[in-house]
Amino acid sequence: MSAWKELLEGKIAAKTARVQVIGLGYVGLSLAVELAKAGFTVRGVDVDLERVARLNRGQSYLSDVTSETLAPLVAEGRLLATTEFDEVGEADALIICVPTPLRKSKEPDISFIVSALESLLPHLRHGQLLVLESTTFPGTTEEVMLPRLQSLGMVVGEDVFLAFSPERVDPGNRRFTTANIPKVVGGITRSCTELAASLYRHVTVSVFEASSPRVAETAKLLENTFRSVNIALANELAFACRKIGVDPWEVIEAAATKPFGFMPFYPGPGIGGHCIPVDPLYLSWKVRLTGYEAQFIALADQVNRAMPEHVVNLVAGALNERGRAVRGASILVLGVTYKADVNDIRESPALEIIELLARRGGQIAYADPFIPQLALDGHKLSAVEPTGDAQRHEEVPRRAHVHRQPLGELP
Ligand SMILES: NC(=O)c1ccc[n+]([C@@H]2O[C@H](COP(=O)([O-])OP(=O)(O)OC[C@H]3O[C@@H](n4cnc5c(N)ncnc54)[C@H](O)[C@@H]3O)[C@@H](O)[C@H]2O)c1
Repeated sequence: MSAWKELLEGKIAAKTARVQVIGLGYVGLSLAVELAKAGFTVRGVDVDLERVARLNRGQSYLSDVTSETLAPLVAEGRLLATTEFDEVGEADALIICVPTPLRKSKEPDISFIVSALESLLPHLRHGQLLVLESTTFPGTTEEVMLPRLQSLGMVVGEDVFLAFSPERVDPGNRRFTTANIPKVVGGITRSCTELAASLYRHVTVSVFEASSPRVAETAKLLENTFRSVNIALANELAFACRKIGVDPWEVIEAAATKPFGFMPFYPGPGIGGHCIPVDPLYLSWKVRLTGYEAQFIALADQVNRAMPEHVVNLVAGALNERGRAVRGASILVLGVTYKADVNDIRESPALEIIELLARRGGQIAYADPFIPQLALDGHKLSAVEPTGDAQRHEEVPRRAHVHRQPLGELP
């Protein structure tokens, strides 16, 4: 065993290892809080000045982390944040949790990972553990990160340690949190895996040690591809049931009574968030490089992305039944986040639905306790209280896509 590994192992076991979390979003902040609660001294590094300032005041900016949890950790100095990378050399473990979106071309955009890594490199030293948590395509750890570490002249697995461990946190889920969701860890070498696993065992119930980063990277993509494909199936079922006059919800409820071999997924207005619409395309992109087209992924993406338009057509149909048109109708959208109990609107299909309805001339208001304001298509919207009052809008703005008045009359 290398001396560096032994030293780091001891620090992790004694919780004297200093941990830095790079990227303090839904994933990074939650993890930083858990590590600090477990007794580690944690520093967060984020390029977002406002997030850093708020964290250092003990104020949470995420629905999943309360300020009551955060404030004492900040007050004790257990968790603080900075926008600077100059203290990276003081860390024993560094965990990267930066975004991994898609480019407009629907290809992976790992520029945030590369940028974070480039900022870390000048400060890295022997004896550190570096873990990537951002969801990414198979091979990122070995093909993108490893060569950069090797370029420093360090032997990975001896002098420094590198692993991938996908984040599985489900914002808004009160039942499953960082503490009881098992972790998957895949290191470049066995030592890398063991060190990363030993750190995570302090904050979670169990750790699966994968044979390589590539397995861990692919496992994460499989999890979210599974969701995307099954949601698409549920959406298709909804289309099919409409054609044959059957209630899809009752069909799913009936099928879900089977105690094995079936897991219920439900139709919806489309998929949103940073994961389900994005991650499967990371897998299909990587596979496409080998000349193989992942057909299930493409089909699921196609079905799911058609849902907002389908919802708009349903609304238009419902208005038509009442002798009304979308143009001029006051329409209240209930909920704009991509799922319940989160303040996250990334990729939310509600936004597309609002835009499509507004483009057809609908006067749109929305209600969402998590999102007081919304900027859409150059317009600022404020949430209304869903009081149930049926008030007609006095004036219908000609060009405006949105309406700030209280709830209008529903068709
Ligand atoms: N949100 C989820 O539910 C979820 C769940 C599992 C996995 N993931 C994955 O975790 C990763 C992070 O997701 P998130 O939802 O926390 O993203 P986020 O956008 O909420 O947070 C990312 C943070 O990284 C910061 N950042 C960007 N570039 C940086 C840099 N170069 N250096 C330092 N900080 C930088 C941003 O300012 C931001 O605060 C993504 O790969 C995502 O796919 C997300």
